[in-house]
Amino acid sequence: MRTLIKHALHSAHAIDPITVKGWVRTRRDSKDFSFIELNDGSSLSNLQCICDADIPGYNDIHKMTTGAAIAISGKLVESPGKGQTWELQASAIELIGDAPSDFPLQKKGHTPEFLRSISHLRPRANLYGAVFRMRSRLSRAIHRFFDERDFTYVHTPIITASDCEGAGEMFRVTTQSDDKNPEQDFFGKNTFLTVSGQLEGEAFATALSNIYTFGPTFRAENSHTSRHAAEFWMVEPEMAFCDLEGDMDLAEEFVKYLVEDALENNEGDLQIFNKFVDKGLIERLKFVAERPFQRVSYTEAVEILRASGQKFEYPVEWGVNLQSEHERYLTEEHFKCPTTVYNYPKAVKPFYMRTNDDGKTVTAMDLLVPGIGEIIGGAQREERLEVLQANMLEHGLSDEDYWWYLDLRKYGTCPHAGFGLGFERMLMFITGMKNIRDVIPFSRTPGHCEF
Ligand code: 4AD
Ligand code: MG
Repeated sequence: MRTLIKHALHSAHAIDPITVKGWVRTRRDSKDFSFIELNDGSSLSNLQCICDADIPGYNDIHKMTTGAAIAISGKLVESPGKGQTWELQASAIELIGDAPSDFPLQKKGHTPEFLRSISHLRPRANLYGAVFRMRSRLSRAIHRFFDERDFTYVHTPIITASDCEGAGEMFRVTTQSDDKNPEQDFFGKNTFLTVSGQLEGEAFATALSNIYTFGPTFRAENSHTSRHAAEFWMVEPEMAFCDLEGDMDLAEEFVKYLVEDALENNEGDLQIFNKFVDKGLIERLKFVAERPFQRVSYTEAVEILRASGQKFEYPVEWGVNLQSEHERYLTEEHFKCPTTVYNYPKAVKPFYMRTNDDGKTVTAMDLLVPGIGEIIGGAQREERLEVLQANMLEHGLSDEDYWWYLDLRKYGTCPHAGFGLGFERMLMFITGMKNIRDVIPFSRTPGHCEF
């Protein structure tokens, strides 16, 4: 029976016998024995193993180099050394898979760029092991948050014929034979990878009341920034009988919940981010968990930005969409905390948002955080059939294509609202990692899809 190193290190008592399996991080030899630091990815910490030269398997010790897979059996005993409670006194050692000397992750610092070029080996680097464990835990916290609030988890389609955001950033779906015979598309119409599960989510919210989706979304945005990926995961709650206010409340509660969860249940991984990525990270996360967020209307935000005296690359005036530099000024310089901006100009937002009484703004909201900018975009939806149809006309969308979406307003329409959280951006916020490509296992960005 194999014990995970994480459990061995947290053991309440000595264990005899014990078997652990993992990959050698380092090995130091002396005349009569070798020290091996073993890691199996279950936690950041290595288990120190002492292997006497006369134990079975020791003949292969020279092949147990950094990166090799091995099994060690023996007893877990109290460690006299500082910094760890337990160590393994080996009674047998077995080489499972060696790692020749060209193994790229020899013990030394590597640049993020280099590690991206070996994303198949990258999770074996300590920092990235921590990132991907955090990614897993955060996913679970997301499901727990919605489960505790009676939201139903809905799986919306990946292949779709609708363009939710209307930004013309969709990847076409074709088959290999469609390419040869374009007249006979597989679906008989143009189809795309989804940019958002929202429209289908609305269909389920107007039946089951509170729902959420959590899945991959795709955008053919040619944005070469550290915050944009062509494939990313989005969490999208949708609530029936809910307005913009309720939507903003949920978004803030959600972000706080995830931050608190990371602070409470991180098995030490946050320490590595705090040490090697961002020295002020834990302090900042505590601050976010404890303090209320700010809320301002778009109009107020524009006034703040104009009064700031800042020279922005994109000048601010009422009607423009806020750029990342503006979002960062608001959260980093002005409010110095996460900030929700609401009631954006109608002209810069998609067709489905509810038009306010002023006729110029829509019930949109974006949640902005320091260091990143927008992590959540959401809205109260237009539930009035005629107003929605008029908006669609303005956006050049046809009733025929969206007939099913209009049905949701025709039959039992009700106020409803929701939002989308960019999962990778949230992960960047919680880990302090600076590039979206470093928080997704195999990143896809313009010009990059190696395998
Ligand atoms: O603001 P967006 O475009 O909103 C929607 O798609 C809505 N339909 C969501 C909804 O109301 N259900 O995207 C939502 C979030 C953004 O705030 C951002 O965090 C993330 O998705 N996002 C991206 N993340 C990584 N790479 C990209 N290219 C992203 N585009 C958006
Ligand atoms: Mg947005």
